[in-house]
Amino acid sequence: MYNGLLGIHSLFRWIILLLLIVNIFRSAVDSSEAFTNADKKWNLRLLIIAHINLLIGLYQYFAGPKGFVFIREYGMGEVMKNSVMRFWAVEHITGMIIAIVLITISRSVAKKEIAPAQKNKKLLTLYVIALVVILASVPWPFRFSDVPWFRGLY
Ligand code: HEM
Repeated sequence: MYNGLLGIHSLFRWIILLLLIVNIFRSAVDSSEAFTNADKKWNLRLLIIAHINLLIGLYQYFAGPKGFVFIREYGMGEVMKNSVMRFWAVEHITGMIIAIVLITISRSVAKKEIAPAQKNKKLLTLYVIALVVILASVPWPFRFSDVPWFRGLY
């Protein structure tokens, strides 16, 4: 089961990136036009997938071979000195939780009764920051040789 969930966690990274790009386009293009129900649904799709990945991630963090186990086995001091352990035990979880908090805030902005131009501007800011934080927090294969682009395909 663990490997299956890891495959989903890895795949959802691409879906989250795609949904963020769709939402960025929708809030940037014609930003003064009405905020439609379709816009609200695209925001909701992003929120749902991001929250599912958060839950899978939390399970992996506490039950898997990379994450909290490093702090338990080696202590925080040693973990912070080692770039790989620091990434899995501290950086990945912190960056992703920040990004998911921003996406969650975007949900309440999307539901607010404010002028479309103002709403789209706020949403655009939240999405772009979330995108940058996620891009910086993903364990890309060029940083970690044991992490593939598509888990399960090769
Ligand atoms: C937007 C949210 C997230 C994205 C896009 C994301 C992305 C990824 C990716 C691409 C991997 C590598 C998967 C692989 O080895 O094929 C990974 C692994 C992992 N992620 Fe996340 N992640 C997210 C959120 C989280 C959160 C919030 C946590 C912790 C609470 C977390 C914990 C982990 C752990 C522990 C692993 C390593 C699992 C293992 O190899 O056994 N992730 N994540």
